[in-house]
Amino acid sequence: MCGIFGVCGKVFSSSVDQCIAGLKKLEYRGYDSSGIALFDKGAIQVVKSTGKVHHLEEKISHLKSLKTVSIAHTRWATHGGVVEANAHPHVDSENSLALVHNGIIENFFEIKLQLEKKGVLFRSQTDTEVIAHLFTDLYDGDLLGTMQRLLARLDGSFAIACIHKNHPDSLIVTKRDKPLTIAKDATLGQVLVTSDRNALYGGEFLTLDLEDNQVALLDQNAIQLFERDSSKIFPNFEPFTVKDTPHFKGEYSHFMLKEIFEQPSAIRRTLEGRYDLEGNRVLLNLPKAFEETFETVSKIALIGCGTSYHAACIAAHFLEELLGISAEAYIASEYRYRESLSDATTLVIAISQSGETADTIAALREAKKRKAKVLSITNVPYSSIIRDSDFHLMTQAGQEISVCSTKAFTSQLLLLYLLSLQMYQFRNGSLPFENNWIQNLRTLPSLIESLLQRKNLIEAIAAETQGFEKILFIGRQYMYYTALESSLKLKEINYTFSLSYPAGELKHGPLALIDENTLTVALLGNRTTFHKTISNVQEIQARNGKIFAVHQKDQNLDEISPDYSFSIDAPIPEQLLPILYAVALQLYAFYSALKKGHDIDHPKNLAKSVTVE
Ligand code: AGP
Repeated sequence: MCGIFGVCGKVFSSSVDQCIAGLKKLEYRGYDSSGIALFDKGAIQVVKSTGKVHHLEEKISHLKSLKTVSIAHTRWATHGGVVEANAHPHVDSENSLALVHNGIIENFFEIKLQLEKKGVLFRSQTDTEVIAHLFTDLYDGDLLGTMQRLLARLDGSFAIACIHKNHPDSLIVTKRDKPLTIAKDATLGQVLVTSDRNALYGGEFLTLDLEDNQVALLDQNAIQLFERDSSKIFPNFEPFTVKDTPHFKGEYSHFMLKEIFEQPSAIRRTLEGRYDLEGNRVLLNLPKAFEETFETVSKIALIGCGTSYHAACIAAHFLEELLGISAEAYIASEYRYRESLSDATTLVIAISQSGETADTIAALREAKKRKAKVLSITNVPYSSIIRDSDFHLMTQAGQEISVCSTKAFTSQLLLLYLLSLQMYQFRNGSLPFENNWIQNLRTLPSLIESLLQRKNLIEAIAAETQGFEKILFIGRQYMYYTALESSLKLKEINYTFSLSYPAGELKHGPLALIDENTLTVALLGNRTTFHKTISNVQEIQARNGKIFAVHQKDQNLDEISPDYSFSIDAPIPEQLLPILYAVALQLYAFYSALKKGHDIDHPKNLAKSVTVE
């Protein structure tokens, strides 16, 4: 979750400015605290700050003129609270080195005890400080050899960048199970290291993604790459162009709102070139090998976390309905321990906006060990999940900045509908006769546009329902999964304790929670089970619970006369309605959080990319 950024080689402008710019682009990975280490008058200077990167920026203006090798970090706390002492970079007792780390050192406590016995005093509660002291304990004047010995002692997942006072022109990096990219500015020769290519400035680069347990030694003259056994290997750089796309909110107050409004275009882009309207065919351009694999598949497991898991739930239901094949959604962190669930006849569909979620990566690797084939759906190119998958498809949502996922979710859904239809087409030669699926998918962007135009109605409901501290979301079938997602949005940015339940399940327990202080958001998009859900709403009303109904325009709500309601006019199959209901309730979560004055784009305790298990 932490982000690493480093500069070395022919540093051509202020290292501080470069690191701050890089960190700001990495802030989505974690924003508890940040720090930088660089050389000043022959010594390592470390400056840290809690809070956002701009707090660090304010503290380091005195170092601005320096053009030295430097490393920087933005933190998401795992070991130890959010205090300056726990922020990175961490140094050893003599201040002879500074290092930054993303990941978790699983055997840190054991190493810490060993070092304490040797007299080392620890100044933080982090696992990272252990690496700094261990490095010094192992150091014999040879940076590379020391890093190799360090690697042999560390368990867990990590990306590490380190500078040393005896090697002021060098930066040494390594990684295991966490991403680290080396990028050489093709024109200026400057070398950058980063957890994520998104942190690079605009220009032409030569890039290399470090493989697990490789060590790279970077300096003015060369980038040397070594395998774990110390053998030197030729670094295979690939050209990579970065279009500098500064993160502008434009006319919007928040990235989340901007991204909600970008959904029509995100969906149009995700659809583009992927169907033939006249021929009524889906054209996902999956390789022949996928089609062959699919012939042998007897079950489909869809895995993801958070919002991506909710997309998996909706897709699993759709796939099963459409193909008559067993399709099940699993939370990735649980799936990885369910050994019997995957074998050579399983297709695993791994869904992740970032492509870097540690739980999803771990689950797909376990599935691959058991011979399952993996197709991934991500929104970020060059991500770890793509590298680990047999096949992959990209959503085209564009970079999602707000921690709270919106356009990535609806784009995932769109692509999953297309993928399901593509699979149907593989098995049956053509798309189903009933429901003009392609045409219906194409209408989604304009339906979302109409819905967004009515945002004021939702904003008003958000204002009127501010007082509720208990909010329940209910729905059946597709609407239940949409309820899960809508409830997550509210927890995430509104910090409200909120639950979601299948409407039919209330009477088996949760009904006891209902009183006049409870608001139930009833998602009434399901046509087949509409009347049953209405009965469930009445059961809530009989216990004085208040109702916010989100419903289809043509549905008659006279029976329940809800306290609040929002209608959606969408003459499309109910399987596609989650996209529209999700958009409406994203707006509801946004305006509710806005009224509370929360930092919506950076909700407390969270990070955009969750790279710890
Ligand atoms: C969504 O609003 C959340 N921020 C979170 O649940 C997210 O979807 C989850 O962490 C998975 O991320 P991924 O899609 O990048 O794998």
